[in-house]
Amino acid sequence: SSCQSLKGQRVLVTAGPTYENIDPVRFIGNYSSGKMGFAIAEEFASRGAEVTLVAGPVSLSLKDDNVRRIDVTSAREMCDACKKVAKDADYVVLAAAVADYAPETVAEKKIKREGTDGMILRLVKNPDIAATLGEAKHEGQVLVGFALETDHEEENAIGKLRRKNLDWIVLNSLRDPGAGFMKDTNKVTILSSSGERISFGTKSKREVAADIVDTITAKS
Ligand code: C5P
Repeated sequence: SSCQSLKGQRVLVTAGPTYENIDPVRFIGNYSSGKMGFAIAEEFASRGAEVTLVAGPVSLSLKDDNVRRIDVTSAREMCDACKKVAKDADYVVLAAAVADYAPETVAEKKIKREGTDGMILRLVKNPDIAATLGEAKHEGQVLVGFALETDHEEENAIGKLRRKNLDWIVLNSLRDPGAGFMKDTNKVTILSSSGERISFGTKSKREVAADIVDTITAKS
């Protein structure tokens, strides 16, 4: 992995959670820190690639100012940004933890608690960005997703890879104490549409990013 080995290659990376607004002061979100996606964006940039990072609401900053950053809040905004950038991307890595559902309507004013015992919040399904980009995938483009599974991990990951038309899927093990949300380390197995399966040990997210970039850019 020499320093300029990916010069001229265009890369899209998504990172972080999405926030789905309920009213002006409340949202539905998740605990994704964005660290894995940021590490992948920085790893690609360090090898000379032209990187666009579409980031959900995170409290991270990029150490590499060669990365173009687009900040978004909701899944819909993330999807719109990704559709534009993916058109001429050679590599697309979807590391964001996108909310599956959003409130059907966003209240214009702060919802009051007075005079109610409870409430029902109606949710509607968000677009699946990975599946959307999978359908639009062009010749030569490499599309990579992530999976976080609690059971039948590899079987479920392969199912996702097929359904979303991905070339690679990075499986995070939830059983591993050094893997997952909020952590600085991760442990992954990378699976391909052609049946490859590569397992790595627990490493820093930047080292995991290097393994992912090595794997998906290797010419077979
Ligand atoms: O279906 P699931 O959410 O487990 O799939 C995970 C993969 O799909 C991740 O790469 C994630 O970034 C992507 N995804 C997406 N848009 C969604 C849901 C998931 O891009 N709405």
